[in-house]
Amino acid sequence: MNILNLYYSSTGNTTRVAKAIEETAVQQNHSVDTVRIKPGMEPGIDVLAYDLVFAGSGVYEWLPGKPVMTLFSKLAKQYRLNGLIQQPAERRRTKQAVVYCTYGGTHTGANEAIPTVKYMGQLFDHLGFELAGEWYIVGEFHGAYLDFSKKGKLGNITGRPNESDLQSIAEMVKGALNIKAA
Ligand SMILES: Cc1cc2nc3c(=O)[nH]c(=O)nc-3n(C[C@H](O)[C@H](O)[C@H](O)COP(=O)(O)O)c2cc1C
Repeated sequence: MNILNLYYSSTGNTTRVAKAIEETAVQQNHSVDTVRIKPGMEPGIDVLAYDLVFAGSGVYEWLPGKPVMTLFSKLAKQYRLNGLIQQPAERRRTKQAVVYCTYGGTHTGANEAIPTVKYMGQLFDHLGFELAGEWYIVGEFHGAYLDFSKKGKLGNITGRPNESDLQSIAEMVKGALNIKAA
């Protein structure tokens, strides 16, 4: 199975999750292309070339990182122009996507992360992928926002995602691979 592991990370939390996804999929004998989204990146990737896509981002003011939105917008335009996004969007049942975020949730908990995951899911939904998972993974704040990790709606989230979070992610990756293989 061809797997794309696409992610954006500003302060490193989502990178740790993407590494766990890659390691788990490789352990399960799958081939994985890991692509870190960078600012100004040209849409040189074809998500339709993959059977299973993991797409993740940190949450910044409720939304994915701007480089994610810029890239997804360019990809959507390209696929629309090539006739690969149709009205209504066709279904490609052999293709699946897992969309996820890492988030701090300090003000409203998971509610402030939902727009990010829903936003990313729509590119794949438009392309006809089945959405095989929407994951919300807690990620501590860094730098100037460090205090937000200590007394927000989710309590003390310092050190998240921690080893236990990453182990859960590995199990969820195995689950996604099993669904795909079935
Ligand atoms: C500038 C900034 C804005 C953020 N805004 C939100 C937010 O609106 N909601 C939220 O739940 N977390 C927010 N966070 C927390 C991040 O989503 C969280 O730390 C995430 O794991 C960061 O991912 P990254 O380390 O991969 O960049 C914000 C963090 C930063 C630095």
